[in-house]
Order: sequence, then C-alpha cells, then structure tokens
Amino acid sequence: MYIVFLGAPGAGKGTQASRVAETLKLAHLATGDLFRQAQDGESELGRQAKFYMEKGQLVPDEITIRMVLERISAPDCQSGVIFDGFPRNLKQAEALDKALLELGKAVDKVIYIKVSEKELLERLSGRRICRQCQTPFHILNSSPKIMGKCDQCGGELYQRPDDAVAVIKKRLKVYFAETALLIDYYTRAGKLVEVDGVGDVATVKKRIIKALSGEFASSGRR
Ligand code: AP5
Repeated sequence: MYIVFLGAPGAGKGTQASRVAETLKLAHLATGDLFRQAQDGESELGRQAKFYMEKGQLVPDEITIRMVLERISAPDCQSGVIFDGFPRNLKQAEALDKALLELGKAVDKVIYIKVSEKELLERLSGRRICRQCQTPFHILNSSPKIMGKCDQCGGELYQRPDDAVAVIKKRLKVYFAETALLIDYYTRAGKLVEVDGVGDVATVKKRIIKALSGEFASSGRR
C-alpha cells in the first residue's frame, strides 16, 4: 500500500502518519524529518535544506525528489509507505506516480486531513518536537509526561525554528499556492478521501483507519 497524507502545516500529518504506519506495518517517509535529520550532520543536503526551511519555502524539487526516490528503494519500503509531506506540488506528484509505475505500483489512497486555519496556527505555535526521534508534542493538547523530555525516547524537546509565527504564515501561503492544488489532482484520480482532522488524536486515527479500510481489506491486511 502506498498512501499519501496531505494537509496544511500543522494538520497532524506527522502525528497520524507515525501511528497509522505502526498499525498497518508500513514505512513512514516524512520529507521534513529527513531534511531535519540531514541538518544534524555536516552534509550538503542538510545545508541546502536549512536555507529553504528557515524561510518557510519548499526545498527545490530536484533535491527533494532525488532524496525520496532513494528512500523508497530501501528494503523497508517494499511492502508499502505512508508519505508525509510529499508530494507537495504537481511536479513532485507526477515524479512519484512515474517512479511507482516503473516499479509496477501506484499511489493507492490519499488521506487529506482537514483542519481550520485558526486551529493550525494554535497547533504549530504550541508544538515541541523530539530532537532524537522527531515525535511531536503540544504544550497544551498533548504535553509530555516530563516537561521538555520525549515520552518515547527521553530525548530533548525543542521548538522548530520554522514554527515562529512569521515563518508559519509563509508556510501556509506556500501550502495554499502549491500543495492545495494536489487536492484536485488526486480527486480527479479518484484517490482522495477527506478526513476531519479536528478531535483528539485517537479519534482522528480511527477516522483514517476507517477511510483506509477498503484498501487493507483488498490487500489482505486487517
Ligand atoms: P514538514 O516537516 O513536512 O512540515 P509541514 O508540512 O509544514 O507539516 P508539519 O510538520 O508542520 O505539521 P504536521 O501536519 O505534520 O502536524 P503535526 O503532526 O506535527 O516540512 C517542513 C519544511 O521542510 C517545509 O516548509 C519545506 O521547507 C521542507 N519540505 C518538507 N517536505 C518537502 C517537500 N516535499 N518538498 C519541498 N520542501 C519540503 O501536528 C502539529 C501540532 O499539532 C503538534 O504539536 C501536535 O502535537 C498537535 N496535534 C496533532 N494532532 C492533533 C489533534 N488531533 N488535536 C490537537 N493537536 C494535535
């Protein structure tokens, strides 16, 4: 199964993708996480990604597509992937379709997680993420058991530099100008399912699993 999670910054793609991937035993491919991990070292990829991310702009397609195509050829991606934060524009969507077609595969379903703009701003400005495992928390909605420490791995929690209000506004602009066009692209392909992203994390996860249930029944999963 190849599933795309689509939604604005802060819609809950990362929160849900990691949980759903664990339940369905799929790989979780998050381009934002890959770019942030690259910044931990001295790599050229990390340096380039940082330049664009701190401005709230998209990292150029050539860099992003190359990174994703390399990652999907890894053994853990062979039985399926949840794409979180990719594709983000038409060029990336077409590149993904082409790459999967060459492997005899296709995007099976696109889960569009819908949340109001007011809620997105609240979620992003209160978000803290783990420096080690990237798990997202929220200072009010899903606070960690110990302040500043990740419940999963004990890593340090920090605020992403691109979660500053001015950068959030820029990211939302980019989302509406480029990524939101994919709603139409995948609707026309008959693959898009809209899921209400408002509610607690467990409730939203249940909605997503329900939206996907036809897919994993046909692939033999429960
Ligand atoms: P990326 O890391 O992908 O960020 P994003 O798409 O902007 O999405 P976010 O991670 O901000 O939000 P999310 O939807 O995952 O929400 P989350 O689950 O964390 O990309 C960052 C940058 O990298 C981009 O700006 C770009 O520069 C670059 N990039 C990445 N991919 C690229 C690509 N394909 N092409 C080019 N450039 C690319 O939740 C948000 C908060 O809400 C958390 O605090 C969470 O705890 C809370 N929350 C989650 N669910 C709920 C709920 N149900 N109720 C209440 N709170 C909730």
